[in-house]
Amino acid sequence: MEKTKEITLNINRRDEKITVPSHRTLLEALRETGHVEVKCGCEKGDCGACAVLVDDVAIDSCLTLAWASEGKEITTISGLGTPDNPHPLQTAFRDLGASQCGFCTPGMIIAAQGMINDNPVPTDDEIRMGLSGNLCRCTGYAKILDAVAQAASEMRKTGARS
Ligand code: FES
Ligand code: FES
Repeated sequence: MEKTKEITLNINRRDEKITVPSHRTLLEALRETGHVEVKCGCEKGDCGACAVLVDDVAIDSCLTLAWASEGKEITTISGLGTPDNPHPLQTAFRDLGASQCGFCTPGMIIAAQGMINDNPVPTDDEIRMGLSGNLCRCTGYAKILDAVAQAASEMRKTGARS
């Protein structure tokens, strides 16, 4: 019989109780609880669409088990900013046209925030490296790289964090 357990996940600063089997990935658990802003792409760690911050580090939620995420702070793109109060990365993506179909954008911004948390003054090469696990089939990447550089600069001025 499938082993299930009730766990509490802290998602975007709110505790949510869910009952999940041991093999449920964090990506599946998030989407099943309505966090469909976390995108499901390859489900094998290749595309970065499912990225979330776990204790301020960007991870692929498709490669993480929900049970292993208990007691940690999980942040999705919805926890970074809102349409009324966007995060500097969201503002830069909007202003520089760094999002087209938008499917990669949540994971791309989360990966960028994880990189900036670790390195607030990234060079262009470090931004490329920081986003190297995230695929985009629309933009050609140039505007994304520009947007991340602009947002990192803005965040240094304002002291904004995730
Ligand atoms: S869906 Fe997780 S890396 Fe592609
Ligand atoms: S904007 Fe379409 S996949 Fe990146």
